[in-house]
Amino acid sequence: MRNSLSPLAWFQLICVLLGLMLLNSPVTADSGHKEVNEKDIHFFPTTEISLGDFPAEGPILDIGGGGEGIIGRLKGSQVVAIDINERELAEAPDGPLKIVMDASELKFLDNSFNCVTIFFTMMYIPAELHGKVLGQCARVLKPGGRLMIWDMNLTAQPSGAKKIAAIRLKIQLPGKTVKPGYGTHWPAKALDAAHYKQLADSCGLQVSAETDNGSTFYLELKKP
Ligand SMILES: C[S@@+](CC[C@H](N)C(=O)[O-])C[C@H]1O[C@@H](n2cnc3c(N)ncnc32)[C@H](O)[C@@H]1O
Repeated sequence: MRNSLSPLAWFQLICVLLGLMLLNSPVTADSGHKEVNEKDIHFFPTTEISLGDFPAEGPILDIGGGGEGIIGRLKGSQVVAIDINERELAEAPDGPLKIVMDASELKFLDNSFNCVTIFFTMMYIPAELHGKVLGQCARVLKPGGRLMIWDMNLTAQPSGAKKIAAIRLKIQLPGKTVKPGYGTHWPAKALDAAHYKQLADSCGLQVSAETDNGSTFYLELKKP
């Protein structure tokens, strides 16, 4: 799943990503793919994200770090990429230490990382597990550490809207542009920055930075 340029390649990519999302349960590592009809997909406008190198001390835990492995591309061997799907990890670029693991049951000890990242993964995790996943991230963060989340700003499904909400991104990394597509079932209730901030608050995390790009957001949360 590297750079996808033609409309057909885009559609195939969305099918693969949606197939994984639709068929993976949090405890199932690999359930295969399911076709999604393009007429059921609402595409948000392509969004550009500039992802510059950011400072982080020690290993960075990247949640759902398979697929395009964007954080791994940026921070290389400093990254510990966990993903529930072994194939997604295998397809991600080399560099990070890759471990098959469920984000809702992290196997790391408390206070292990200064930095945890979640790049367009929360939208692939069932909403009822979001609190548990953020709780696990808070647990493995060291005091003073930060959780960085990039994701879609999804409203509740508008009436009459197509079943699937998808977005094409143009990600500017230092010296490279990557163009992945991410999609999910349009949720019954909003899964936006406010949803994640509320859950983060219940886990004792404090918002330290925030950017709203319309269809996407970036949230930085600090463990006191
Ligand atoms: C859009 S994909 C890859 C996003 C990736 N961060 C990137 O840079 O492209 C989302 C990933 O989340 C993973 N995932 C879904 N549920 C998970 C869970 N409970 N624990 C860990 N990974 C999960 C999927 O297997 C998939 O590889």
